[in-house]
Amino acid sequence: MSLDLKSLVRTIPDYPKKGILFRDITTLIEHPQGFRESVERIAALYAGQGITHVAGIEARGFIFGAGVAIALGAGFVPIRKKGKLPGETIGQNYALEYGVDTIEIHADVVGPAHNVLLVDDLIATGGTALAAVGLLRRTGAAVAHAAFVIDLVELGGAARLAAEDVAVSALMEFE
Ligand code: PRP
Ligand code: ADE
Repeated sequence: MSLDLKSLVRTIPDYPKKGILFRDITTLIEHPQGFRESVERIAALYAGQGITHVAGIEARGFIFGAGVAIALGAGFVPIRKKGKLPGETIGQNYALEYGVDTIEIHADVVGPAHNVLLVDDLIATGGTALAAVGLLRRTGAAVAHAAFVIDLVELGGAARLAAEDVAVSALMEFE
């Protein structure tokens, strides 16, 4: 029988701010089968689609994105928070459900020859993922797909990505 991955996600109220229901994936990834199945189920959706690179968003997107890249035989592109990458970077500001931040990639990491799958643990407002798609597309790379473990559907992020011609998948939804 297949594992109920959603039951492995812990909900912590009022973190990091009052009123936020924090969907905590640490309880999913500490479960060996839960972690492996999460990665394998995402990778299975994109096998054979010519994905050359998986881009993962710091920090929680690294956890799943690296595994998906290995499973697909693709390279891994770290999308980092400001000031962490050593080479020449391009960056993008974005608004979070609970704050403001900047993400960066190395300017020469991907280009027009590449087909990138974006991976993160969770999509809420979609601000982070939209910034990541915009950043990757500035290099000329194709970014037609984004995969998440969790979609907080009521916050509308997946719809915002779809409006930018990004097809979204998620392993589970929360209200
Ligand atoms: C979380 C999450 C996504 C983003 C989703 O990351 O991992 O990247 O927020 O929110 P959005 O759809 O409203 O943009 P966070 O910025 O908290 O960073 P972390 O992974 O370092 O904890
Ligand atoms: N990132 C943005 N909103 C979140 C939430 N409600 N739970 C976990 N991570 C998040």
